[in-house]
Amino acid sequence: MTKLDERYELLDLGTEGLSESLAEATQRGLTASPKELPCHLFYDERGSRLFDEITEQPEYYPAQADEEILRDRAAEIVAAAGGPLELVELGSGSSTKTAPVVDAILATQDDLVYRPIDVSRAALEWGAENLLDGRDALRVRAVCGDYAEGLARLGAGERRRLVLWLGSSIGNQTRDEAADFLRRAREALAPGDALLVGIDLRKDTETLEAAYDDSAGVTAEFNKNLLHRLRDDLGADLDPADFVHRAIYDREAGVVRIYLESRRDQVIEIDALDLEIPFEQGERIHTEDSTKYSLEEIDALAKRAGLVRERTWLDGEERFSESLLRVS
Ligand code: AVI
Repeated sequence: MTKLDERYELLDLGTEGLSESLAEATQRGLTASPKELPCHLFYDERGSRLFDEITEQPEYYPAQADEEILRDRAAEIVAAAGGPLELVELGSGSSTKTAPVVDAILATQDDLVYRPIDVSRAALEWGAENLLDGRDALRVRAVCGDYAEGLARLGAGERRRLVLWLGSSIGNQTRDEAADFLRRAREALAPGDALLVGIDLRKDTETLEAAYDDSAGVTAEFNKNLLHRLRDDLGADLDPADFVHRAIYDREAGVVRIYLESRRDQVIEIDALDLEIPFEQGERIHTEDSTKYSLEEIDALAKRAGLVRERTWLDGEERFSESLLRVS
């Protein structure tokens, strides 16, 4: 594997840790009614490992479908975006899905600058090492930080930009937040630039609920990681086994809602916050929403953000979409 060389640069925005901390979110969310905790708290080291395991579960089709479209349609996507291109990726992690797009671009132009933006410096470095290996015409200009901030700091580009926002991350925002984020992304880009956004589609309840409650219990363990964090990081006297993982599809809203449900009446003491939280049997903590879209809803979302949905690619089973949204 390539050691990072002069083809790799990193700009650290110093925004790591700017989101609401575990202590703040617990104080606010568990004293609220109904109780809630924000989903960004899933992703400590154990939670990130569990999320990687989720993407390997047969029921979690979004990961397989996202990968399938990028693998099979990268050349078409790049042709539709229209080059020569510079490639940006929001929430790139370790860029595991990006290689087919990078290769499709390098098949049509002599060199490429790839700008991944992610909060994890380790993931950025690991991803860059993998991508740079065997691709001499590639340069990586990574940005470590919040991706809205990273986008706003891109500055003027020499080439048309294609911005990847994959993996249905948009689904963990409300529809309003998603439109607002895309509008801000458009403002940071130039006419002719485009975003490729991976968006999960509305479908039957059974498929969706199985995707968020796999038979091996990995998603349940991922959700319960929040309880492990409360116990291990804040000294909460709880047993994760006293809660059940629930994934319920609200078909009308088009949202899979994830909860932790108390199996019994109990009072949890949280040492670090000097707090006592009572639970009734069956009471839930709302931990995540995953919003699903129809193609009409993707059109409406793009329109609200001032973007135009130019093309959409689906996987073979039409479960998941990648849409090219153009800045006009
Ligand atoms: C990261 N995000 C797109 C995942 C999703 O499908 O909403 C998070 C997830 N939660 C449970 N399983 C996967």
